[in-house]
Amino acid sequence: MTSLQNKNILITGASSGIGKETAIELAKMGANVILAGRSSAKHESVISELQVIAPQGKFKYIPLELEDLNSVRECARQFLDLNLPLHILINNAGVYGQKGATKQGFEVHFGVNHLGHFLLTLLLLDSLKASASASTPSRILNLASGAHRYATKWDWKALQKPTKTMTTMIEYGISKLSNILFTLELAEQLKNTHVLCFAIHPGIVKTDIWRHLPGAVQSFMNITPILSPYEGARTTLYCATDCPASEHGQFLTNCKRETPTALGQDHKLAKELWQRSLEWTGLNTTSA
Ligand SMILES: NC(=O)c1ccc[n+]([C@@H]2O[C@H](COP(=O)([O-])OP(=O)(O)OC[C@H]3O[C@@H](n4cnc5c(N)ncnc54)[C@H](OP(=O)(O)O)[C@@H]3O)[C@@H](O)[C@H]2O)c1
Repeated sequence: MTSLQNKNILITGASSGIGKETAIELAKMGANVILAGRSSAKHESVISELQVIAPQGKFKYIPLELEDLNSVRECARQFLDLNLPLHILINNAGVYGQKGATKQGFEVHFGVNHLGHFLLTLLLLDSLKASASASTPSRILNLASGAHRYATKWDWKALQKPTKTMTTMIEYGISKLSNILFTLELAEQLKNTHVLCFAIHPGIVKTDIWRHLPGAVQSFMNITPILSPYEGARTTLYCATDCPASEHGQFLTNCKRETPTALGQDHKLAKELWQRSLEWTGLNTTSA
């Protein structure tokens, strides 16, 4: 087992599913884990489990509501106030099947799954850079999805409106495509640093994420071969530890590089999404 002794890792959405299993495995490898998410009760309960599994580890909860960019800023501030190095950031939290808009008016999947994590990442980037070295790069992991394939066209206007479709498949697909495009451009921005980034499809995993979807989809999930959250955490753990620099900026599933759709390889679109995300989050710098 790879050692993550003395490594500080911030993970979003570790109250359940893939995030919780990831946090457990990271703790077993000796990491100190900071859990950022919206339910203090759920995260404190996970922390109690981690303390039993890894009594030497340090674990902390920081509130984070990704539907509100002010909460994202506050989360980053609370982490930076700890004055700890940050070796790995895992942007894991996600929603599927919710409807509506975020506090700042973005479609809820886009706002939570992409924009909130975009802001969090950029606010923590200096810390990730400062904690990295050539022999031990820092790492940024973005949980994307094979469902980015549902996004067959791009509509900028739809990103600033409430969810339009009944199934939310298109909106979820766009948000997961955004995770891949963000990783693509982030890799460019980080070219001359010791920070690596990866986008991940964890497989189809039995978690709470399906709970907002229509009954028919949930029935389909019951007959589809599906991974446990433990199995679903595998590619995340690989990217957090052994995945080499040659995979920087790539989309991985089952611990291997996978080719995303043509939209997911569109560098021009990735750059435009980066620029607009900077404007929408109020970050006025043009490079990381
Ligand atoms: N399960 C799959 O088959 C699958 C496939 C491809 C990709 N993924 C991706 O894997 C990641 C983890 O999903 P999962 O399947 O493990 O789902 P999950 O069990 O539902 O976990 C999602 C986590 O995100 C948190 N979250 C949701 N909305 C949030 C918000 N507004 N602010 C802060 N935290 C929020 C949840 O917190 P609460 O407990 O408060 O809801 C929970 O901790 C997601 O990015 C998902 O898109 C999953």
